[in-house]
Amino acid sequence: MKVVASAPAKVILFGEHFVVYDKLAIVMAIDLHVHVTASKRSDDSIQIKSDLGFAGLFQDETYKPEFGGVEGRRILEPIKLAAEAVLNRLDDNLGVNLAIDSKIPMAVGLGSSGACAVATVAATSHLFGLDLSIEEISQLPFRAEEYVHIKPSGIDQTISTYGGVIKYRRSEGITPLKIELEVPLVIGNTGKLRNTGQLVKKVRDKRERFPKILDSIMNLGDIISTRAEEALRQGDMSRLGELMDINQGLLSAIAVSTGQLEALIFASRMAGALGSKLTGAGGGGCIVALSPKEKQDSLVKAIHQIGGTAMMVRKTDIGVRVVQFE
Ligand code: PMV
Repeated sequence: MKVVASAPAKVILFGEHFVVYDKLAIVMAIDLHVHVTASKRSDDSIQIKSDLGFAGLFQDETYKPEFGGVEGRRILEPIKLAAEAVLNRLDDNLGVNLAIDSKIPMAVGLGSSGACAVATVAATSHLFGLDLSIEEISQLPFRAEEYVHIKPSGIDQTISTYGGVIKYRRSEGITPLKIELEVPLVIGNTGKLRNTGQLVKKVRDKRERFPKILDSIMNLGDIISTRAEEALRQGDMSRLGELMDINQGLLSAIAVSTGQLEALIFASRMAGALGSKLTGAGGGGCIVALSPKEKQDSLVKAIHQIGGTAMMVRKTDIGVRVVQFE
């Protein structure tokens, strides 16, 4: 018996970094998916094969690489933790084979690890007939996300579970937003991997040197996210784009943007984007450009021309789901 579950990637549309200081962030699920196939084993180990070129067997706290060497463990460990979170809810002595097929690029701020962990929980629980609520599916990957992000906000696993658009403030938690707007986007990827923790620290250090300035910038970020929520609700794309541009100015001001990111941002604006900004931690990774549908092709070309890779995506209201069961 095999079960396949899928879960979507995410973009932070507004409020990255400022969200760490209790400001509002707006996050959207996009139609790039990871698929996880789960099947039963006759022993209690967990075997994981990833299309990133790693495979291995987790057995009694040891990792036996099958291909890709021992460094595969770091990549596969969070998937194992997500599967374990489900197996721990069942009888002892159960094991699972997991195959990961992901269209979500890794370590560029699109929430690949969160999506993978959520799809793993859904596929594994379904395989063993464990009936989890949607809240449990979103919460069981917490240890997996902790492994990757040290202190995760929980945004990634939540958006991959529910889909759609959410707003998030640390002190208030996560609120789903009902957004009718289609939100066509182009993602531009610099291809440069980055480390979220280091960038968060960089902002913290800057705030220690310039507390009043950074706090003012962050308060502006909060106002931008609030206005963006209104623009999303009203379906006002051009206002939304302008707000993205203003948000990008603030991200440049706190020095998490890079020359490569700025180049992609300006290329997309010149090609007709309504607004464009980095998404996620910055320092590399991706930009997100709000694009009228008829301009999406030109944006993709413009980004390719200056050495980035580009993908047309849009909001998806579909979160995690079991797509195949045989
Ligand atoms: O690039 P990502 O998806 O890891 O996003 C980081 C978002 C930050 O606000 C920079 C950090 C955080 O924990 O919210």
